Amino acid sequence: MTIHFIGAGPGAPDLLTLRGRDLIASCPVCLYAGSLVPEEILAHCPPGARIVNTAPLDLDAIVAECAAAHAAGHDVARLHSGDLSVWSAMGEQLRRLRAAGIPFTVTPGVPSFAAAAAALGAELTLPGLAQSVVLTRTSGRASQMPAGESLANFAATGATLALHLSIHKLAEVVAELTPFYGADCPVAVVYRVSWPDEKIFRATLATIEAAMGEGVERTALILVGPALGAEGFSDSRLYAKDYDRRFRPSLAGSD
Ligand SMILES: C[S@@+](CC[C@H](N)C(=O)[O-])C[C@H]1O[C@@H](n2cnc3c(N)ncnc32)[C@H](O)[C@@H]1O
Repeated sequence: MTIHFIGAGPGAPDLLTLRGRDLIASCPVCLYAGSLVPEEILAHCPPGARIVNTAPLDLDAIVAECAAAHAAGHDVARLHSGDLSVWSAMGEQLRRLRAAGIPFTVTPGVPSFAAAAAALGAELTLPGLAQSVVLTRTSGRASQMPAGESLANFAATGATLALHLSIHKLAEVVAELTPFYGADCPVAVVYRVSWPDEKIFRATLATIEAAMGEGVERTALILVGPALGAEGFSDSRLYAKDYDRRFRPSLAGSD
């Protein structure tokens, strides 16, 4: 049988793909990763499904759940918040499943950085201002940053930064980024995007700490870069009248 890894999205139950929903509904076992997967998504499980919160389990216990379901001939829906390609701990689970010969599939989800950009009404890549987005974090208790992946190195590019797992280090982030982006650089902190208690703080590197005050300690993204809040950027060439492209030949080129 198959372990279906499914990105459950940032929080809102309708930010789940149709494929993800249908897979959840077809699996008699659901393993979900803690409080960031909302109850409404678990409601797609079929009646009588075995539903296990894996937050208190270690990797051996999670793989044992998968192996037991596989041996019993049951498919498993394995839910992680956001998308699976970043900070999901999917890699280590897939390695164990490959070694055990247990088949799996992967269904992407809406990542929190994309949901945050949507909540801000922001395009993170604006012509002439930023053409790259860096999804990164600061080092944590359990994970050091690899050499070379310092905030200073990323900041030196001037790209839009989407900092995960770092809100508790906001003061350090501001201090490290200010020499590169300048104190006036726009910043947005988006807390629990798409949940009913979502909060958005817009400020600059100089003012973000005061703008936020106390209380936001986890489940927030810090977005930094000139593309946030900018109005003075050039139009893209994509919709320019004189831009000749495959589905819309320019007037000069047609007729
Ligand atoms: C373990 S990572 C999981 C990332 C997830 N796989 C994704 O695609 O966004 C958790 C971090 O992602 C960010 N995050 C996840 N869900 C969020 C949400 N609903 N609102 C704001 N930030 C969120 C926060 O920075 C949080 O500390």
